[in-house]
Amino acid sequence: MRHLMSPLDFSTEELSNLFDLANDIEKNPGKYAHACAGKKLATCFYEPSTRTRLSFESAMLSLGGNVIGFSDAGSSSAAKGESVSDTIRTISCFADICAMRHPKEGAPMVAAEKSRIPVINAGDGGHQHPTQTLTDLLTIRSLKGRLDNFTIGLCGDLKFGRTVHSLIHALVRYENIKFIFISPEELRIPDYITDMLKEKNIPFEEVIRLEEKMPELDLLYMTRVQRERFFNEEDYVRLKDFYILDKTKMALAKEDMLVLHPLPRVNEISVEVDDDERAAYFKQVQYGVYVRMALILTLLEIKVN
Ligand code: NCD
Repeated sequence: MRHLMSPLDFSTEELSNLFDLANDIEKNPGKYAHACAGKKLATCFYEPSTRTRLSFESAMLSLGGNVIGFSDAGSSSAAKGESVSDTIRTISCFADICAMRHPKEGAPMVAAEKSRIPVINAGDGGHQHPTQTLTDLLTIRSLKGRLDNFTIGLCGDLKFGRTVHSLIHALVRYENIKFIFISPEELRIPDYITDMLKEKNIPFEEVIRLEEKMPELDLLYMTRVQRERFFNEEDYVRLKDFYILDKTKMALAKEDMLVLHPLPRVNEISVEVDDDERAAYFKQVQYGVYVRMALILTLLEIKVN
């Protein structure tokens, strides 16, 4: 039985098969409409989410399966003091697969150890968010036709943004990727990541101004300042509007640069950018459903011919 804790749990070849499957689902949704008939997905969300949870639920429903679950810790037995290990043992009797989001880093991994069903990490604290990374990679591959030879700018909250951490770990396995980290000093990318890049001889730069690097980028990954992970509100207020991507900045970018964002957006991308052809963040949401459908089928070992 397989779980998904980190994007690295799949080899690049396995990822390529997963993305082929996701693209086939996109083209032939009818073929997969009953693939999970009789199966149940449990969404165990100990932390708020709309996109990720509903994306999982939509994916399972589009496969003809059913969904059970809870969407905040307060309405589950965690409020009574139940451990994640006990919860998953119980959920294993109710469902065939589980997507879990938790504010504590590593909690889905603890759950996976005791689980009788595949567990998918749907985000653990500031650590990892592998299904967002699968979404990001599928979006890039589908819109650009490749996952190598890119200069990618990651902008915003690089310290607390788990989607950023997961994406970097996944991209280092492809050829000729250069990273440009764009953040205020206080929200710099953690040292453990820059150490890993140095060790692997992967080029990166750290800058504060977005405009400066805009013309070089093939991909721009914008992120929200993660209010809920700040220790004090004052710092958040000072940093929240540090970057605002608008038409003027977009005018500096390559004609075929893609703008990605895991969403939710706050102020970091002005709505005037939404109509720009390079804005890919709403397409990204759609790819998120296809890739979760492909993932559920893969972890449940269901083949559709
Ligand atoms: C991200 C997350 O939960 O980390 N959102 C998402 O999964 N779509 C990014 C965020 O919350 O800023």
